[in-house]
Amino acid sequence: MSLAVRPSPIHSVGVFTSTAIRKGTRVVEYAGERITPEEADRRYDGAPRTYLYGLEDGKTVIDGFGLGAYLNHSCDPNCEVDEIEGRVWIFAIRDIAAGEELVWDYNLYDDEDPAPCHCGSPKCRGTMYSREWMAKLRRRKVRKQAKKNGHSERQIQTRSRGGR
Ligand SMILES: C[S@@+](CC[C@H](N)C(=O)[O-])C[C@H]1O[C@@H](n2cnc3c(N)ncnc32)[C@H](O)[C@@H]1O
Ligand SMILES: [Zn+2]
Repeated sequence: MSLAVRPSPIHSVGVFTSTAIRKGTRVVEYAGERITPEEADRRYDGAPRTYLYGLEDGKTVIDGFGLGAYLNHSCDPNCEVDEIEGRVWIFAIRDIAAGEELVWDYNLYDDEDPAPCHCGSPKCRGTMYSREWMAKLRRRKVRKQAKKNGHSERQIQTRSRGGR
């Protein structure tokens, strides 16, 4: 396997493979310094570009360093990220041809800054946030609006579930 960081049509630079990669291959580690979420906020709050990955424990963030941190996001990815015993790896989720850019679905959450997606896929959902997080934000907005209009908590709950 031979990977390189090169200019990407998605955003600035991305990671490309010059050899074919088989589905299921462990491609590269998402390596980097381990910091707390608070430290990540201190370092990067408002930064237009970050290299952060939050571990499942909710207490550790990897401040990415090296190839693994340079993969761009796509809503139709050819890779996925998996945490194995505290280490984070990028796996191919389909056969990938030589020359393709390696991309994974960031499924961002826990933020409200806009994160528009430019992956260019026909399946693009327009944002790098996860569907679940977007739904949560929509529910929050409905509740806020309903509260502003003086509706009761019960009416608000019905509205956030999509009722009338
Ligand atoms: C881990 S970096 C990826 C490498 C980055 N392209 C670079 O040149 O350094 C993550 C950042 O890349 C940008 N990015 C990655 N995928 C994107 C996409 N599909 N649409 C828009 N921006 C993207 C965002 O600014 C994001 O914060
Ligand atoms: Zn997209």
